[in-house]
Amino acid sequence: MQQAKQQLYSTCYGLFWAIALCLSTVCSATNPLVPDNGAWVGVSIDWQEWASVNDYVQQAEFQPTSYTIFVSVPLNVSDKGLLDNVVPQIAALGGMAVIVAQPSSGLPAITKAAAETFAKVIAGYEEQGASMLIEFGHEMNGNWYPWGQKPTAYIKAFQTMSQAIYKACCRTYMLWSVNTGGGYPYPNGTDIASYTSSADFKLLDTNGDGSITMADDPYAPYYPGDDYVDWVGLSLYHFGTTYPYDQNVLPEARKFTSTIFGTFKTSYVDYTTLPNFYQVYSSPNGTHKKPMAIPETGSLWDLNKLTGGAPTELQVKQAWWQQLFNVGGDSANALDISVAMPNLRLVAWFDQKKAESSASMDIIDWRYSATSNIHDAFVAYIGTKDSSGNRYWNTLPQFISHIGKVTNTETASDGSTEICLGGSSSGTNGSYADPLANLGAASGAASSAVVMTVGGVTGALLLCMLLL
Ligand SMILES: *[C@@H]1O[C@H](CO)[C@@H](O)[C@H](O)[C@H]1NC(C)=O
Ligand SMILES: *[C@@H]1O[C@H](CO)[C@@H](O)[C@H](O)[C@H]1NC(C)=O
Ligand SMILES: *[C@@H]1O[C@H](CO)[C@@H](O)[C@H](O)[C@H]1NC(C)=O
Ligand SMILES: *[C@@H]1O[C@H](CO)[C@@H](O)[C@H](O)[C@H]1NC(C)=O
Repeated sequence: MQQAKQQLYSTCYGLFWAIALCLSTVCSATNPLVPDNGAWVGVSIDWQEWASVNDYVQQAEFQPTSYTIFVSVPLNVSDKGLLDNVVPQIAALGGMAVIVAQPSSGLPAITKAAAETFAKVIAGYEEQGASMLIEFGHEMNGNWYPWGQKPTAYIKAFQTMSQAIYKACCRTYMLWSVNTGGGYPYPNGTDIASYTSSADFKLLDTNGDGSITMADDPYAPYYPGDDYVDWVGLSLYHFGTTYPYDQNVLPEARKFTSTIFGTFKTSYVDYTTLPNFYQVYSSPNGTHKKPMAIPETGSLWDLNKLTGGAPTELQVKQAWWQQLFNVGGDSANALDISVAMPNLRLVAWFDQKKAESSASMDIIDWRYSATSNIHDAFVAYIGTKDSSGNRYWNTLPQFISHIGKVTNTETASDGSTEICLGGSSSGTNGSYADPLANLGAASGAASSAVVMTVGGVTGALLLCMLLL
């Protein structure tokens, strides 16, 4: 009897550690849209300009993994029409849609019912085979959107949206994406000083000195928590080198990585009080360990400021993408991304021409794709191999083979057929599948298999506790 009890003890002890290990690694790390090696290349295109995704692919001469679509939540009729048009086309190609869900009518509009209505629409696209990231309320640490610099309401709305998505969807993940903290809290926006007594002010004044400056953490007060976030991201453009920017000039050496790492310093700006975003949110040895995206990036080319001299449009854009996509070893201009930020998993080029308010409404041509010499140089550069001789910047064919053929269907709560992920090359096959298993699961988009395993093991543990 004594021996049996000892055996039971050691079994229970083992179970306990199995759960602890699972919760700390496997369970929180599952995220099938993350590549096994390297990172995805995506684009953000102007949906007014392109009649179809295929038209764009024809001109791009490479097949982007992801396409970005900006909409408002709650969805209005025209945004719903845009998604209905575009997401099934992306799904038909086998790619990923990054849906920037903007709470344009304010954060209080993101009620549970509103989030569930949106999630149901998203689940409908999953039934057509779409894989999606939902980038909810991007650049929430900036002051230029209605949801900006309101950490309490933002976190609540983000969590509400995550819960609705996790409940309704099985191949859609939540992306939390800030604006780079350089210049925070940014000039000429929300007058944070006018609400110094508010709870939000106290949250944002992270160093407690009574004012909000770049010495405060521009990211952490807005983080919704590991249970609600699958990917983290940062908008980061090269706008110029000196305030008020809007210059057709080459980027400073290593600007891309040093801005993210909080080490950027020139004779004009000092951003060295900023936290290291990659280390805190994404590094495998950091705090949150989430795969990271640069969902928006580009190098400013102001068509109203052309001089005809140097640097040329090609030089300005190329110098920037050679920082984003460098995997050929460290250079004076750029760190090797495969070494410096191995958990950076998606970079999407802003491939649009548009008037920018931050450039006095000048027309900015952010595109790599419009001019053949620029286009060819871009496509060649993202195809360069890393030090092990592998392609690092992966496009649609690698995404399709990673996700695997869609093999798994489930009947969702409304009786419709839910198509979930098939096998991924990391060996999980259809185990992210069951939307019903995610009902009420607080912890991210955990796989049904994991949920069931944890359920079973927890049951055994409870039994252990009763017996002992
Ligand atoms: C829908 O929202 C978008 C912003 O996402 C806006 O540009 C558009 O005008 C709105 N359309 C209607 C019909 O309200
Ligand atoms: C905001 O910007 C405008 C024009 O750029 C300027 O005149 C005004 O003083 C600024 N306001 C604040 C509060 O900085
Ligand atoms: C985390 O990993 C990076 C390399 O990926 C390394 O440079 C850094 O020193 C590590 N930090 C800690 C705290 O171990
Ligand atoms: C996934 O499962 C399907 C059958 O359901 C099978 O055909 C496929 O080979 C599996 N893929 C992997 C990577 O195991």
